[in-house]
Order: sequence, then structure tokens, then C-alpha cells
Amino acid sequence: MTTTAQEKPAARSARAPQADARPVDAAGISRREFLYYIWGASMVMLLGAGGGTILWYLLPRFRSGEFGGDFFLPGAQLPAVNDPPQDNPQGRFWFSNTAEGVMALYKVCTHLGCLFKWVDTNERFECPCHGSKFHANGLYIEGPAPRSLDRFEVTVVLNDGSQITSDENGIVHLGDPSQVTEFIVHTGKRIKGPAAGQGYA
Ligand code: FES
Repeated sequence: MTTTAQEKPAARSARAPQADARPVDAAGISRREFLYYIWGASMVMLLGAGGGTILWYLLPRFRSGEFGGDFFLPGAQLPAVNDPPQDNPQGRFWFSNTAEGVMALYKVCTHLGCLFKWVDTNERFECPCHGSKFHANGLYIEGPAPRSLDRFEVTVVLNDGSQITSDENGIVHLGDPSQVTEFIVHTGKRIKGPAAGQGYA
């Protein structure tokens, strides 16, 4: 028996579902779809790992003793209360001990960024550029600077291994200075000084 022209398409369409049929699991996902999902998940994991690695290298990391990192000062280096603050050029801070407490003052003027100096005769910091002046604790006195000096967070390590961290104003309230093993100044953690005319919070 010969097949007519009208019967051929009908026969093809009847066979078509069998030819395109793909294995489908119980969840209704074909093997091809399953492989697509696996491939997609692999790409996401690969891109995530690659992005994390790039970020790891791009994010700034500072070593101890380099500005932006931690500076370790021996406890014996603490100036007596109201003695002139100590200059730390590498850390870009003045280490100051006042009746208020111990602090590390960022040595860049809050006006236009000049390096201010401690002036012994006047017992205060003075900026050579436009004349802003600050107390030993960083508090604004006069001049065009818009705010008091910035401070860095400080951690104190005591003989018994315990630690004290500076308060929200960057001040460490020390009990007995003889118990201090070392001070750690975190130059990556700067605390902005308050507006001129206002005290630290
Ligand atoms: S930069 Fe210090 S007063 Fe201007």
C-alpha cells in the first residue's frame, strides 16, 4: 500500500513527540535543564570567588608601624600629665597626656591640612599656615580651623593582659599608669573633632 501526500505530515506529527521526548525526572526537570542549572551555579560560584579575591587585593591593608595601621608605644613612653605632647612623625600623631586623659591627636590641621606644632612657651598647638590654635587635648582655641583636632582610637594593654579602649572621643582614662605595658594607636580609626566652639561630646 502506498502512502498519500496528505498522510505524510500527519504521520510525521504523530511521530514528533516521540523524537523530541527528553528524560524528565520526578521534579519535572529535564537532564538538559539540570545541566544548565549546574553550569549556572558553577559560574556564580566562580565569579563570586574571583570577585572576592580581587576585593582582597584591592582593599587597603596596613602593617603595624605604617600610617593607617597600628603603632605600638611602650607604657614607659607615656608623658607625665601636662608634659609637652610627644611627636610621632611616622604615625602622624601627637601623643598627649592631659588631666582629661591620654590621647593621640592627628597632626594635620583641621583648616587646610598644614602640620601644626607644639609651642612650649604658649603651651598649645599652633598652626604656622593661618594661625589656628588648639589646647594640648586638641580643643579649638582660635583661628580659621572649623573644628577641634581629630584623634585616633587608642588601646591600652595592662600588665595583667587586660585592655582598655579609648572612649568615643578617643580618650583613655587611665587608673595607674605604672600598670600599662603598651599603648596601641590605631591610625586607621580617626575620630573627628567637634565643631569650633563646641566641646568633645
Ligand atoms: S591650615 Fe592650619 S590654620 Fe590654616
